[in-house]
Amino acid sequence: MTTIILLLLSLTFIAPFSSSTFSKGSSLVSERPTYVLTSPDNVFSAGFYSVGENAFCFAIWFSNSSTIVWVANRDQPVNGKRSKLSLLKNGNLILTDAGKFTVWATNTFSLSSVVQLSLYNTGNLVLHNRESVILWQSFDLPTNTLLPQQLLTRNTKLISSRSQTNHSSGFYELFFDNNNLLSLLFNGPEVSSIYWPEPWLVSWEAGRSTYNNSRIAVLNSLGNFSSSDDFSFLSNDYGAVLHRRLTLDYDGNIRLYSWEKERQTWVVSWQAIQKPCRINGVCGANSLCKYVVGSGRKCSCLPGYKIKNGSDWSYGCEPEFDLPHNKHESVFLLLSNVEFYGYDVGYFTNYTLDDCANSCLQLHNCKAVQYAFEKGDCFLKSLLLNGYHSPDFQKDIYLRLPKNYSFSYNSSLEEFSLDCSRDGTIQLERTYVKSRVNGIVKFMLWFACGVGGLEVICIFVVWCLLIKTRKSSGADNQGYALAATGFRKFTYAELKKATRGFTEEIGIGAWSVVYKGVLSDNRVAAIKRLNEANQGEDVFLGEVSIIGRLNHMNLIDMWGYCVEGKHRLLVYEYMEHGSLAKNLSSNVLDWRKMFEIALGTAKGLAYLHEECLEWVLHCDVKPQNILLDSNYHPKVADFGLSKLQNRGDLNNSSFSRMRGTRGYMAPEWVFNLPITSKVDVYSYGIVVLEMVTGKSTIMGVHTIVAGVEAEHTRLVTWVREAKNREATTTTTTSWIEDIIDPTKEGIWDMGKVKILVEVALQCVEEDKDARPTMSQVVKMLVHCENGST
Ligand SMILES: *[C@@H]1O[C@H](CO)[C@@H](O)[C@H](O)[C@H]1NC(C)=O
Ligand SMILES: *[C@@H]1O[C@H](CO)[C@@H](O)[C@H](O)[C@H]1NC(C)=O
Ligand SMILES: *[C@@H]1O[C@H](CO)[C@@H](O)[C@H](O)[C@H]1NC(C)=O
Ligand SMILES: *[C@@H]1O[C@H](CO)[C@@H](O)[C@H](O)[C@H]1NC(C)=O
Ligand SMILES: *[C@@H]1O[C@H](CO)[C@@H](O)[C@H](O)[C@H]1NC(C)=O
Ligand SMILES: *[C@@H]1O[C@H](CO)[C@@H](O)[C@H](O)[C@H]1NC(C)=O
Ligand SMILES: *[C@@H]1O[C@H](CO)[C@@H](O)[C@H](O)[C@H]1NC(C)=O
Ligand SMILES: *[C@@H]1O[C@H](CO)[C@@H](O)[C@H](O)[C@H]1NC(C)=O
Repeated sequence: MTTIILLLLSLTFIAPFSSSTFSKGSSLVSERPTYVLTSPDNVFSAGFYSVGENAFCFAIWFSNSSTIVWVANRDQPVNGKRSKLSLLKNGNLILTDAGKFTVWATNTFSLSSVVQLSLYNTGNLVLHNRESVILWQSFDLPTNTLLPQQLLTRNTKLISSRSQTNHSSGFYELFFDNNNLLSLLFNGPEVSSIYWPEPWLVSWEAGRSTYNNSRIAVLNSLGNFSSSDDFSFLSNDYGAVLHRRLTLDYDGNIRLYSWEKERQTWVVSWQAIQKPCRINGVCGANSLCKYVVGSGRKCSCLPGYKIKNGSDWSYGCEPEFDLPHNKHESVFLLLSNVEFYGYDVGYFTNYTLDDCANSCLQLHNCKAVQYAFEKGDCFLKSLLLNGYHSPDFQKDIYLRLPKNYSFSYNSSLEEFSLDCSRDGTIQLERTYVKSRVNGIVKFMLWFACGVGGLEVICIFVVWCLLIKTRKSSGADNQGYALAATGFRKFTYAELKKATRGFTEEIGIGAWSVVYKGVLSDNRVAAIKRLNEANQGEDVFLGEVSIIGRLNHMNLIDMWGYCVEGKHRLLVYEYMEHGSLAKNLSSNVLDWRKMFEIALGTAKGLAYLHEECLEWVLHCDVKPQNILLDSNYHPKVADFGLSKLQNRGDLNNSSFSRMRGTRGYMAPEWVFNLPITSKVDVYSYGIVVLEMVTGKSTIMGVHTIVAGVEAEHTRLVTWVREAKNREATTTTTTSWIEDIIDPTKEGIWDMGKVKILVEVALQCVEEDKDARPTMSQVVKMLVHCENGST
């Protein structure tokens, strides 16, 4: 039968083959990967895609970016020689490897004389007959990507790739579970678990409904995703007509990507999970995941455990010891702010730590206990999976180790830090341009210190267990709470001493007073004392942990915090030259410094908006919040108002009240429109206009509603009018000289100032979509800086 294959072979073609259809009897061959099917609008291509040395898959990809959206034989690549995709006379589409094995087939059958394979503009590869009856389509068999209009149904699921470069099936799946919920599953080599929606929430708490069993989800081309279980989201660029794809990435997160035509790149416009360590199976068993802003997720083995497979963290870590049978030979090592979700073999409440530890010792397979002092909740863990370290966790783990193990702990400590240094080879990490190697070194150092500290605590805990003291247990998790993170907890007494009783006030805001202080290690610090009981301890710690992890040369560095009773304090590096506001009013900045401040501020904000996985909006950009160090390098300060923001969830209730300072607030706040990072862009534009013109926006009367309008328009319209005047009158003197601060001495490159003003004017467009992003601002300014000097 195969003898009647009609080959449409290479010999007949000289130019690259490019067509959107392909008829019975034709084939594509792997020797000529440039011979592809393309959709009529050229957006998609289908053909042989190289996935390794002499390894090809038949795939569909976006022509411009080569981003794969579908693969026929992802788990069985074919040879580069004599492999081909053929449409047989009987209507079957088959992929053969090296002229021998059929590795993939559609198993279609048609006697119709015309059967065609067409790649549509939607990215759907369709096998149809003359009457356009669909025999087979790639949309019915998605791999890791859902395209607009493509249905996810009860019969289909997305399966992630194994890694960024390996397109074989990975461990993560998106599918409708038996309760009709759209879920994410980690289907690992040893265990499997659902991690989205959060498994500890019941469906309606997660905003889902189990009642509709149609099990259908679809993304439309404008960026609206909706699923029959009531889950839905809008992309953060909803409404824009552009190319999109919803991909289950190899790291277990689903992301919606939008194609940015100008930059020819994909940008994330929504993602399901904001805390990447919450994704199960990230680091494998017996290890801890920690999220480091700027470099992504990090895995490390627990003390006493070593990595199983150095080239792949998903295999996790294995113990270097055997758990002793005799219970007197075990000890417990405290790991603070750590959680291992699931795999409990026992749960008790109203237990003391002793009771809890003893119950664990009764079981041979109990590897650790999770203990919470408030209610005496005690969980016995049989497997240590989904380990997650985060300073905002109020949970502690007591890890069971053999008693004689702690004596040989010295060597294990070393190995532990060596494992940290493997970070470079972690495959599951997202690839980011590493902002600072320093961060890793710092992390290692602190972690090593943390482990050292824990060792001391371990001895203390053992002592507690032996002596059976019940009372002291509540206090023993202080002091080292955040030892493993880059910043620390201070006591109120320490800070009181540092500031000599809060005497030297250096700033005052609506919610706080800032004092200058000298820490015990002689570092000069700015200590910000928040008004009492602003927020609960949990909220405060949550926000502190976010701020503490942000690390950029144009963001103020936070060294620590204090939370004691009603006291809430933050400890920052001290900035010699104070705020930009102060410097503007005293008129000490020259044009060069101004430009550098504008650029540095933009870089800091761009980092906040775009480089962190957990998107942060500032929401209160103003000269008071831009601080200058001894070299007048700017650092953006005061993230007090910033909050984690899920870009998809624009109607987030935490943003329903207005934030920010009048005069710098974008119109979105006033008109109750969705809040995006563009609000900071607006405020930034106003700040730049103020710097350049030497005029302040907040000079007029503050009437509540009309006032907002008036303030916005005053400065902006004045500058805009000056610019437009020139366009109409064609005078030779530049409009820029009409608007710049006349008191400013010295001549500098006015061309740059002009560009700065033009960028600022784009930033203050009423329509948020007309404003550039912060990183575009950086690009424009850098370009101009390099361009004309
Ligand atoms: C991709 O991953 C699979 C599964 O782990 C493995 O069998 C295969 O060899 C990998 N392919 C490449 C090209 O690394
Ligand atoms: C998104 O799609 C769903 C279902 O089709 C619809 O109910 C909803 O109104 C849409 N949202 C918007 C903003 O268009
Ligand atoms: C179930 O979901 C589908 C798709 O979202 C929708 O068309 C249908 O009306 C829903 N059925 C009920 C009973 O709500
Ligand atoms: C793809 O690239 C071509 C040529 O570089 C360009 O003309 C076209 O606009 C690009 N398409 C998209 C969707 O970016
Ligand atoms: C480690 O993982 C890689 C990639 O999955 C695999 O090829 C290799 O065989 C593994 N090594 C061991 C010792 O398990
Ligand atoms: C907890 O245990 C203590 C003593 O064992 C007992 O007095 C107390 O009532 C218990 N509390 C609860 C909520 O069961
Ligand atoms: C610890 O004790 C166990 C059992 O008593 C023994 O097998 C093991 O070798 C000891 N380990 C060390 C490091 O001494
Ligand atoms: C710890 O190990 C190092 C290097 O192996 C050794 O020099 C040091 O003396 C050890 N410390 C203790 C307390 O055993």
